[in-house]
Amino acid sequence: MNRKILLIVLSVCFWGVVQTFSQSVREQKRNRCFQPKEVWYDTEGNPINAHGGGILYHKGTYYWYGEYKTGATTLLSDVGWECYRTDVTGISCYSSKDLLNWTFEGLVLKSVPEDSSHDLHPSQVLERPKVIYNKATKKFVMWAHVDYADYGKAAAGVAVSDTPTGPFTYMGSFRPNGEMSRDQTLFVDDDGTAYQFSSSENNQTMHINRLTPDYTAPDGTYVRRFVGMSREAPAVFKYDGRYYMLSSGCTGWDPNQAELAVADSVMGEWTVLGNPCRGVDSDKTFYGQSTYVIPVQGRKNDGRFIVCFDMWNKKDLPDSRYIWLPLVMDGKGALSIPWQSEWDMTFFDRQ
Ligand code: DGJ
Repeated sequence: MNRKILLIVLSVCFWGVVQTFSQSVREQKRNRCFQPKEVWYDTEGNPINAHGGGILYHKGTYYWYGEYKTGATTLLSDVGWECYRTDVTGISCYSSKDLLNWTFEGLVLKSVPEDSSHDLHPSQVLERPKVIYNKATKKFVMWAHVDYADYGKAAAGVAVSDTPTGPFTYMGSFRPNGEMSRDQTLFVDDDGTAYQFSSSENNQTMHINRLTPDYTAPDGTYVRRFVGMSREAPAVFKYDGRYYMLSSGCTGWDPNQAELAVADSVMGEWTVLGNPCRGVDSDKTFYGQSTYVIPVQGRKNDGRFIVCFDMWNKKDLPDSRYIWLPLVMDGKGALSIPWQSEWDMTFFDRQ
């Protein structure tokens, strides 16, 4: 073998060793189980930064959208309540095939520092983004809670994109049907009709607003539900033909008891079922607050859901963590959320 061939063989071997080594490093770093309350790292090794978020499943990939919180947490004085905040930086997006390992796709909606009158100026509030896909328009539609620093605006902002990873174009904000809108979520029914659930009437009453066919505005039909019950952080899902709403009470960034409610139709009458959390600290939602319930794809109608909670750290909001837990049917046929400090998808197989 002449020297040139020997050099090529050695280089190929070296490249192979490097590849195998980096593959094994990647394997070691892979998340293998959910660890609620622990720092959750993305595929680049950075803490996942997507708070108050929602998940979209599209063409074999999950997308996680959330509030991207960085910088100092400050306390706004003279508002009469504990108004901790960080400046708005934007809405982040992560993608995943397995719900455990998430790749950062960047900020899909960015703050607008150059215009102090803009809804997305850093001095404002941008919370609880949710994205849904409109099959007719082929657009990805984001709704979020848009507010002044003192939460006096109480509006919903809408942005659209041609792709799940953005960039989203901001269309503006409004009060749905002229009513206040703070904590909010979106729900698309099997017939393609979409609804916004929002804490309205100064967080006293939940409004369920039906959306226009393109999902970018309310269509004028809405109902008032949970009247005077101060529900926040709504997360809506459908199971076995019935509609469920998980929500929190209204205590700022501090935890309180979760509540599950059920209805036979989205805009129909809702019946409160009580607290679905089980185990230690279940009366405080394990120190979390609901944000989304993910229907896990894979097996048809098998009732596998993951419930996503935020564990807010009000004095250091960027260090807020996540609590993802399985939703299961308990022995009495009721939906429950048992606490687990560590679990993986095989948990569902054991049920
Ligand atoms: C509770 C809400 O659920 C959060 O999204 C946030 O708005 C805080 N209140 C602010 O105190």
